[in-house]
Amino acid sequence: MQSKMHSRKSKFGVPRLRGSGRTLLQSLISFRQASCTIRSQVKANNHNAVQAVLDYLERNKPRFIDDLCQYVRHPSVSAQAAHRADMAACAKWLVAHCRQIGLEARLCPTAGHPIVVAKTPRAPRSTKPAYLIYGHYDVQPAEPFKLWKSDPFKPRMAGRSLFGRGASDNKGQNLAHLNAVEAYLKTRTNLPCDLTFVIEGEEEVGSTSLEGFLKAHRKELACQAVVISDTGMPSLNLPALTYALRGVVAFEVTVHGPSRDLHSGIYGGTVDNPALALCQILAQLRDSRGRVNIPGFYDGVAKLTARERKEMARLPWSAADYRKFLGVPQLFGERGYTFIEQRAARPTIEINGLTSGYQGEGSKTIIPAQASAKLTFRLVPNQDPSHVRKVILQRLRDLCPPTVKMEIKAGHGGEPYLVSPTSPLARAGLRALKRAFGHEPILIREGGSIPIVTQFKKILHADSLLLGLALPDDNAHSPNEKFSLDCYEKGMRMGALLWPELARIC
Ligand code: BES
Ligand code: MN
Repeated sequence: MQSKMHSRKSKFGVPRLRGSGRTLLQSLISFRQASCTIRSQVKANNHNAVQAVLDYLERNKPRFIDDLCQYVRHPSVSAQAAHRADMAACAKWLVAHCRQIGLEARLCPTAGHPIVVAKTPRAPRSTKPAYLIYGHYDVQPAEPFKLWKSDPFKPRMAGRSLFGRGASDNKGQNLAHLNAVEAYLKTRTNLPCDLTFVIEGEEEVGSTSLEGFLKAHRKELACQAVVISDTGMPSLNLPALTYALRGVVAFEVTVHGPSRDLHSGIYGGTVDNPALALCQILAQLRDSRGRVNIPGFYDGVAKLTARERKEMARLPWSAADYRKFLGVPQLFGERGYTFIEQRAARPTIEINGLTSGYQGEGSKTIIPAQASAKLTFRLVPNQDPSHVRKVILQRLRDLCPPTVKMEIKAGHGGEPYLVSPTSPLARAGLRALKRAFGHEPILIREGGSIPIVTQFKKILHADSLLLGLALPDDNAHSPNEKFSLDCYEKGMRMGALLWPELARIC
């Protein structure tokens, strides 16, 4: 908690030492005066020290852009086996970079992709508060390539943006924190916290290995809280602290029909068509009012409070602009909720991919042997992913006709997250955002998921401070992803200003 003494400017000089004839009250007053003085001097020193850090960030801007280009150049697509070597190369590059900036870094192999751990040098029995900074170096697949205006893995500068897959999600954001810490280390400025970076390579595929890693390194990773920049902000004038994320469960459903593709004229009308069967099944999973049509799916869903609804309505976004920005003829969502509520605080079903039959040039008259769909469901507090998985599986089985066989593969999952937006931790984050961006920050809930945050809570007993630097038009997961250089620069400043703030609350 921020003490009053910290923020109050001391108007007292250093008190003269007096004899023993003082009253207890006088002693207390002079003790308070002395500590005020010391604290305000520390504050002044800190202020100068942080200025040196900020100057360093300013001076090194061009090189920080080069570093980000090098980082983005690695096609670190965790979902695709063909990129395994690129994943390892990216992690190696990151370790080398961390060492170069003065961190003690190592590569931790896992059954999946390696995890990078990098620590600020610290005294053996350091009493500084410890914080973790989490990020991910893996990126989403860049397909479809032909929609990119330039190669997704050849970073391109245009105006104040750097284009490339992963520029915003999440390389630019975690590099901003590394740059801030570099500035402390290279200017030999006292860092008031001991910091450990954990940058993983499986976030985009559900953070499978990281959970075990946290359990195995519980002691080493013990911390006050986890700082994460992997969310968004509405605009450069509206920096944001995210206090809730949706959870997610993923499935791949395959419907099998005949043992091979068949001539649709010779056999059509006598066997079921797996593509049609799958479409009919999927179509029943959502109703016309935008509700997920699965018994038990909404069990536990926390109702939005009037206060939250009011807060969300304050966001300066219009449904019309939002519609235009997304290029749809009309918005669609669960009735009874605004689009801001729908995208951040209500559960959903999505088809992420749908495949069957002939997709080449021209036509081919067949009944395909199979059809498949990749599905994800977003969850909100307090839905339980394992319960949700159970009711989805049941519903899919109930809907499957006897004319086809259904195969279901469970994919990644993550719990929804909700944390106090008024804790001392959150308030410290808000102060750093305000100073870095020069605007009053807002509190938001977000629709995306960072599956590991609930594990940080369960395994390390640490809350996550979500200070996102992505803009709505950064095209995360879409073609032409970019990162704003303004967000990058202000993000570094925020990273630098954060540590004194977080040291004060401990
Ligand atoms: N950075 C996102 C998460 C995010 C984006 C949160 C915007 C809030 C606002 C993260 O990299 C991500 O994309 N996560 C995946 C997780 C999934 C693959 C398990 C997601 O949300 O789809
Ligand atoms: Mn992502």
